[in-house]
Amino acid sequence: MEIIGLDIGFGFTKASNGKKSLIFKSVYGEATDFQYREPLLDGDRLEQYLQIDIDGNSYFVGELAERQSTNRFFTLDQAQFMDQPSRILALAAMSNLVESNQAVKLVLGLPISHYRKYKQKLHDLLKTTHDIIITDSKGLCREKKIKVADVRVIPQPFGSIMNYMLNDQGKMSEQRFSKEKIGIIDVGFCTTDYTISDKTRYSERGSMSVQTGMSKAFAIIATRLKDISGVNVELYRLFDSVHSGSIKIRGKSYDLKKVSQQALGQLAASIASDANRLWADDWDMDEIIVTGGGGAVLAPFIQPLLEGNMLSLNPSHDYRLNNVQGYCKFGKSVWHTSDD
Ligand SMILES: Nc1ncnc2c1ncn2[C@@H]1O[C@H](COP(=O)(O)OP(=O)(O)OP(=O)(O)O)[C@@H](O)[C@H]1O
Ligand SMILES: [Mg+2]
Repeated sequence: MEIIGLDIGFGFTKASNGKKSLIFKSVYGEATDFQYREPLLDGDRLEQYLQIDIDGNSYFVGELAERQSTNRFFTLDQAQFMDQPSRILALAAMSNLVESNQAVKLVLGLPISHYRKYKQKLHDLLKTTHDIIITDSKGLCREKKIKVADVRVIPQPFGSIMNYMLNDQGKMSEQRFSKEKIGIIDVGFCTTDYTISDKTRYSERGSMSVQTGMSKAFAIIATRLKDISGVNVELYRLFDSVHSGSIKIRGKSYDLKKVSQQALGQLAASIASDANRLWADDWDMDEIIVTGGGGAVLAPFIQPLLEGNMLSLNPSHDYRLNNVQGYCKFGKSVWHTSDD
């Protein structure tokens, strides 16, 4: 039996079995037949190749779709995201981590505001046996049965706290976090979730989701780029350029440093002020954890504005994986005790 943590985010889909983690953009499109499959040069970077057939349709997933599919599906709307998109992204991720016919137990998260509405739907969508075909980069096809035996859905930011609290076997390793009152701010691509773990208990009053993620800052940058270059750059294609500080469009380089600093600063200010307002009565909070891929980018801007003690970030850790690694540890704590 394999325990897998799965985080189908609006920006990236993440999966982990505790030993191996997988991450790819939450984008897919129709698969096409390649005339030529070899890389042009031996040294070409090996791209993650995710091709999956579900119900007779063949899809490219992640960066492969971004590069090769003519019509790409990408959304920032939870209702639209729920059915087919979540299933395609989940199966593409699981197909890389499990053998055919191997029983899988899954832990997933949902944003706090959508938790009650979609929890059962997500559970029912995935808890079954899925027949798929996967194709590798050489064009070889293999049938696979993904047998999902159990599904647990938890509020998204709880993954991060589990990741700090539990070890790889799912046992308590940081007693401190289980005894303290911790605020969590999870900044993703589309949503920011706020929650409190008060001696591991969930606080309804201190929790909310806001549709304010990194895409807000990227939208400001994209609008500016459209004005000066005439090209509409899709939001999910902007991260590398924002990170490096410039973008090349039709051979011309555009500097992004100033507009990026402005946009990220504005977003961080709005997130910090939401936290300060939401947690105005929670002055007894011990620590605040900023998490999620967006959290890692915004932490330096958020820290001086936050009323409280922010846990410092480890620059070598990929904070996009924080929730999913926590889901996997949580799965081990729930299921290993009963199955081993
Ligand atoms: N190495 C990286 N590559 C790409 N993006 C990164 C990287 N490190 C941090 N980021 C930031 O992480 C963001 C995505 O974070 P994350 O994966 O937590 O979001 P998500 O879970 O997909 O979104 P949501 O929670 O809204 O559904 C990106 O928008 C980008 O700004
Ligand atoms: Mg997320």
